[in-house]
Amino acid sequence: MTNIIAPSILSADFTNIAHEIASIEKSGAQWVHLDIMDGVFVPNITFGPFIIKQLRKLTKLPFDAHLMIENPADYIEAFAKAGCDMITVHAEADRHLHRTVDYIRSFGLKAGVALNPATPLSAVEAISDSIDLLLLMTVNPGFGGQSFIPQVIEKIEKASQMKKDGKAHWTISLDGGVNYDNARELFAKGADATVMGSAFFSRKSDEERTELITHVLNL
Ligand code: DX5
Ligand code: ZN
Repeated sequence: MTNIIAPSILSADFTNIAHEIASIEKSGAQWVHLDIMDGVFVPNITFGPFIIKQLRKLTKLPFDAHLMIENPADYIEAFAKAGCDMITVHAEADRHLHRTVDYIRSFGLKAGVALNPATPLSAVEAISDSIDLLLLMTVNPGFGGQSFIPQVIEKIEKASQMKKDGKAHWTISLDGGVNYDNARELFAKGADATVMGSAFFSRKSDEERTELITHVLNL
């Protein structure tokens, strides 16, 4: 199975966003990762459904929305209507995670749950059946360009083992500090997908970005 790369436009040049999205398509990366921050759950603020609705006109690639916001259930409908294909909420931000995951699926979308580096996998074990995408944070959320936290590797391996044991069917995705040098090793540990922000967008030409994706996907 081909692994998936989801470039995060958090690190893109927003003055030239149409070019940046076209460049994701050309590179061979398969999803567009959208980092939504509210300034409460994380110490940073980005964009919301209004911007996503406009971005939706630029590409048919799946939109992988990562909600780093408090009370995410209140905003699911807006993100669904804006054109997201996958919506991921943080386990730490939602007291009623099972209800929210079901609610995301009620729009016909894939439901994701993100876990901060300090949150154990046991936070989602009881509802693993209902989760389509497990987003394991490999940095503390809030900013692009941080270093990968190696303690999370054990969680990747456990989440992958749960799939092998038939206890989960989730797509395991990683978020933070994944780059040219470590991506292939992380896929080998059990990740199915990974976000890539600075590693992708710090390469300025389409050729360099394509070279990165070709390398990490071992194409
Ligand atoms: C961090 C975000 C990430 C971020 C990753 O809060 O969730 O998606 O953009 O950026 P890099 O790949 O630069 O660590
Ligand atoms: Zn993210």
